[in-house]
Amino acid sequence: MKKADFKVQSFKGGFDDNFTYLVTCGKTNTQFLIDASVPFREISSNVSHKISSVFITHTHGDHISYLDEVISSFPDLKVIIFRDSVSGIGGENIQGVDDYSKIQAGNLNIEVIHTPGHYDDSLCFHMGNILFTGDTLFVGRTGRTISLRSDTRQLYRSVYKKLLILPGDTLIYPGHDYGPKPYCTLKENIEISPLLCAVDEDDFVKRMEEYERTRLS
Ligand SMILES: [Fe+2]
Repeated sequence: MKKADFKVQSFKGGFDDNFTYLVTCGKTNTQFLIDASVPFREISSNVSHKISSVFITHTHGDHISYLDEVISSFPDLKVIIFRDSVSGIGGENIQGVDDYSKIQAGNLNIEVIHTPGHYDDSLCFHMGNILFTGDTLFVGRTGRTISLRSDTRQLYRSVYKKLLILPGDTLIYPGHDYGPKPYCTLKENIEISPLLCAVDEDDFVKRMEEYERTRLS
């Protein structure tokens, strides 16, 4: 998939510098969202026809704050979500997906990667050389594992065994603007992130504990 095959627009806002992404297929003009964390009125002027689907990176409230608003604007819209979370989301057009499910939107192929750790229903979405990472991976660090249904060891396996094995020039688009810049390549991210330089799982657990001990807020 080449760059010209799609366009990604990012919208920042919501609960805590969240990002919602609007993706447009270059061939068919099909448009879809990654998360619903920003008021839809801030995105709608960029929608040419209708939103076909919304891909939910995980069901923490800030990532689905405006899901009802998007569904009421586009009643046919498909909601793509981890299979175990389907029953927690109301609506008719919910599509539960699993690790390595493949979804087509227009001419674009999106691969689902289940990445539990920050939250047990966390998904990343891989399209061409782009990876939408939700709260699993930010610019500068991984997500945190302080909430119910978090698991640091699972996060290690998700990040190190499923994401960091992708090509170094893969661009990550995270769920929040927490880093020195809004997006970067995996290779750059490893260079600036001590949490991405663990030698093994135990070392990662130690690094996460150290991070939580020393973070400012
Ligand atoms: Fe989260």
